Amino acid sequence: MTTTFARPSRRSVLKGAAAAAAATAVPTGWAIAQARPLKLGLMLPYSGTFAKLGENITFAVEMLIAEKGGKLGGRDVQIIKVDDESKPENGPQNADRLVKRDEVDVLIGTVHSGVQMGIHKVVKESGTLTIIPNAGNNAVTRELCAKNVFRTSFTNWQPAHGMGLELGKRGIKKAAWVTWDYAAGNESAEGFKQGLEKHGGQLIEVLKLPFPQTNFQPLLAQIPGLGVEAVGAFFAGGGAVQFVKEYAAAGIKVPLCGSGFLTEGTLQAQGAAAEGIETALHYADGLTNARDAGFRKAFKDRAGRDADVYAVQGYDAAQLLAVGLEAVKGKIEDEAGLYKAMRSAKIDSPRGPISISDSQNVVQNIYLRKVVGNENKMTGIAAEQLADPGSGCKIA
Ligand code: PHB
Repeated sequence: MTTTFARPSRRSVLKGAAAAAAATAVPTGWAIAQARPLKLGLMLPYSGTFAKLGENITFAVEMLIAEKGGKLGGRDVQIIKVDDESKPENGPQNADRLVKRDEVDVLIGTVHSGVQMGIHKVVKESGTLTIIPNAGNNAVTRELCAKNVFRTSFTNWQPAHGMGLELGKRGIKKAAWVTWDYAAGNESAEGFKQGLEKHGGQLIEVLKLPFPQTNFQPLLAQIPGLGVEAVGAFFAGGGAVQFVKEYAAAGIKVPLCGSGFLTEGTLQAQGAAAEGIETALHYADGLTNARDAGFRKAFKDRAGRDADVYAVQGYDAAQLLAVGLEAVKGKIEDEAGLYKAMRSAKIDSPRGPISISDSQNVVQNIYLRKVVGNENKMTGIAAEQLADPGSGCKIA
């Protein structure tokens, strides 16, 4: 699907071009480039188990741009969307389509860690400015980091690490992790393990199934025999809805916790099965900052449904882009100025204050939450202004 957003009227393009021509006898390449809208590629899942995640990111990106009068850094914005279907095998080809065929100036994408690897391969080579609005794969802001790649979401390590720290502090000695067998699942298991170990706990088992399968029964059947005091999980979207329901239906007595995606944007569908589940995430219900209240209302008015962490991450991807483009007055070719502004950005996010680390991942609070009715109620902070270790990244 390809749609355009806020395409400028022909008159305003002509007016812009005329003004540029008047300013310099011969229009420069920059004057011509500025007269055209900035092309923003959105590569996200609009179908499959993560479809709602991609939609919420899109609503929020469009909302921020609309709040800025349809312009970023003084330039109109044309959005070109591609449904990546969360299929890693099509990642490089879809990214190529946006970068080479559509010649986007900026790419915002994506949700799935495996698909992100495909985007990364393409944009590392092309140098296209890329902002990751969800996918958490550690590598792209660790050993594979690149100066043109920023992330406004999290690393897979971050929320799970917060959960592990919290359980460790409570004296949990043995825990297990259940997940899909791909980067997001495996890296969140590692973050959880490291958090637990800091306080003397142990991760004794990781149970996995291939993404996006939902045949959970063989895994659930193993849990009572493990002798663990807690089970953590990484699932998201439609898969998370089903996992939480089946966990409750299996009558397992071991408490379920996890990275907050497990209960994020899913509570209505999970119903009573989710009640009481504790998770850790960089967003929660019941935050008290003014930005969050305004954001939630505006999002609901626009999207017709409640905001969630995915909406926040999309909004902040657009906020970070706006900071960069405002600093260079829309001149995206001014890479040094653009990246400098983005690297030093201090963003007032609905999640609270965030900043950008040296490896260009987001530094943020990891909140502790507990499901009460239809809310992931904030009950504390599992890790304050937590930065990913960013190991192996050097950006000059
Ligand atoms: C990922 O693949 O990195 C991923 C997907 C969905 C989430 C979180 C992480 O909710």
